[in-house]
Amino acid sequence: MKLQINPERCQGHGRCYTLAPELFGEDDEGYGQVLGDGLVAPGQERAARLAVANCPEHAIDTGGD
Ligand code: F3S
Repeated sequence: MKLQINPERCQGHGRCYTLAPELFGEDDEGYGQVLGDGLVAPGQERAARLAVANCPEHAIDTGGD
């Protein structure tokens, strides 16, 4: 799984970096950012899916996986 945030969709709700701070951070304006290269280790998939499910804008993409 490889995470990406679609910057055209993200409205800065912040649920991604609140729910999965090991995978997401925020920029200066509170918009979500994927940390590192976005690749999700097996032990982080649960947190990744939680963030994806809780983004109100459906802005987080998992690379189809
Ligand atoms: Fe943006 Fe969704 Fe996170 S709107 S800040 S990607 S919860």
